Amino acid sequence: IRMPEDTTQDIIFVTCTAPVNIAVVKYWGKRDEDLILPINSSLSVTLHQDQLKSTTTVACSARFKEDRIWLNGKEENINQPRLQSCLREIRRLVRKRRSNRDPGADVLSLSHKVHICSENNFPTAAGLASSAAGYACLVYTLSRLLSVEGELSTIARQGSGSACRSMYGGFVQWHMGMRADGKDSVAEQVEPESHWPELRVLVLVVSAERKPVGSTAGMQTSVDTSSLLKHRAEAVVPGRMDEMIQAIRKRDFSTFGELTMKDSNQFHATCLDTYPPIFYLNDVSRRVIGLVHRYNRHYRETRVAYTFDAGPNAVIYTLQPYVSEFVQVVKHFFPPETNGEELFYQVIKLCCERSLREILPLPPCRAQPGPGPRMVEDTSLHLLGPDGLPRTSA
Ligand code: DP6
Repeated sequence: IRMPEDTTQDIIFVTCTAPVNIAVVKYWGKRDEDLILPINSSLSVTLHQDQLKSTTTVACSARFKEDRIWLNGKEENINQPRLQSCLREIRRLVRKRRSNRDPGADVLSLSHKVHICSENNFPTAAGLASSAAGYACLVYTLSRLLSVEGELSTIARQGSGSACRSMYGGFVQWHMGMRADGKDSVAEQVEPESHWPELRVLVLVVSAERKPVGSTAGMQTSVDTSSLLKHRAEAVVPGRMDEMIQAIRKRDFSTFGELTMKDSNQFHATCLDTYPPIFYLNDVSRRVIGLVHRYNRHYRETRVAYTFDAGPNAVIYTLQPYVSEFVQVVKHFFPPETNGEELFYQVIKLCCERSLREILPLPPCRAQPGPGPRMVEDTSLHLLGPDGLPRTSA
């Protein structure tokens, strides 16, 4: 007879965290909706998990009757096709490994059901690539729990396209691939986060509102209606990928920044070329764009670059020596008093909160590229309690 105290014994828990990534050559458009295969390659910078991250705990037990998932404290439908793809593909890898070289291992864990609990340390509605960090975290955590290795980025890709790039730290490219089965549509690290120590990333939260048109639906309409998108995918992105990789390798900020801004602008132009058109930028976004260009013109050099995803929030890339002056300039033109909460500085704000809490020594403000997913060793940080249910839920 099993005593209540023993209930944790037959549940295995693993907790991991995964980062957000911000593309500098954008992914927009699929050639296969189910496998999530893109019409062009893309490239992103993985942000440091000190600022923004997803955390996921997966528990596995013979006692669980069904697979279940809780996102930010609320139970969600486990039968969503993209979640099912990730679970199916991970379990396929487990089966493959077992038959290949490790017969008998983890026989139990494969037949067991899983409980998944995931949360972001930033508002999902803020349009900050929450699905990328979330799916990367889910796939990475499952892979650690079931001890599978292999091409995990193709599995994360089937959760959300951009999630495949969050499987690595630093500078990451997603090869569009040519195959119909998607096996060559993989993410690959271009350079690690340590490659460019002076690079800084700031997130200017213009609005935390949910976007009117999600990426999935938006890019589908663009593929169907925008001839500019077709031109971009075929004639612009291939060369731009090469130039961007060279700029990163040489740490050439001026080229990196210019390509980043042009790519963001072309992405938003394809949204405008979509019929009916999609508007992600608002007046504040456009004023940030104007400010960055005026700032660069003043110094006759590209010191700061902006990029915008499917929402109005600006992500700023710059170099360490320019951060404090540029932040002063932003605060001057967008004074928090007059703007209310319209514009605040998420990355900077988080750092300030921490420095107040910990007083001294001041923690390093790592608003810079960061590493890929990792395992959390401290078991007290599991999001699921000993009964396999969320700790936070009532
Ligand atoms: C504008 O990866 O969210 O952020 O594959 O349908 O889940 P799905 O789309 P998603 O699209 C991201 C689009 C983007 C550009 C980018 O991150 O490359």
